[in-house]
Amino acid sequence: MKKIAVFASGNGSNFQAIVENSHLGYEVDVLICNRPNAYVLERAKNLGINTYVFDHKKYKDRRIYEREIIEFLKDRDIKLIVLAGYMRLFSEVLLEKYDGRIINLHPSLLPDFPGVRAIEDAYNAKAKEMGVTIFYVDSGIDTGDIIVQEGFVYEDESLEDIEVKIHKLEHELYPKTIKAILEDM
Ligand code: GAR
Repeated sequence: MKKIAVFASGNGSNFQAIVENSHLGYEVDVLICNRPNAYVLERAKNLGINTYVFDHKKYKDRRIYEREIIEFLKDRDIKLIVLAGYMRLFSEVLLEKYDGRIINLHPSLLPDFPGVRAIEDAYNAKAKEMGVTIFYVDSGIDTGDIIVQEGFVYEDESLEDIEVKIHKLEHELYPKTIKAILEDM
């Protein structure tokens, strides 16, 4: 079974959806988390997934913790790094090591509405269509090559309703896309 490492910083609903759909044909080998109090760690414990936790604030330079992560992952035969609400940029250290093998998920139809409050930003801008993008990670904020997008039009729905729809879409689309990418590797 091909192994993946998931990186997350917060709630971890996508991490959970990825783990719960691993019957599609991949194995979540480890969760890597940069916030020692993140709820995603509770989820990993309940799901029986290994964790590697570090506090990015304790490092002067992201290159240092990225080298430690590379060392940790060295013998684990990880085919794909999957970001799921991981709210740090990568330096060239990780990007070069896992070139073309790091993907991320974003709750808007990129290139529109990058950043941390995408759903709210799209809603306030009265965007006609909402959606989700999965893309290869580069050094920018939500700028890499797009792998897949799925959207929907909406009318008279509250921001909360739209958020629920987007997260549901993410939970379905991300595991399927991970499976498809791994099949081509
Ligand atoms: C998801 O909606 C994901 O698309 C978003 O963070 C959320 C994490 O939720 N990512 C970004 O905004 C990346 N720029 P989760 O912790 O419940 O999976």
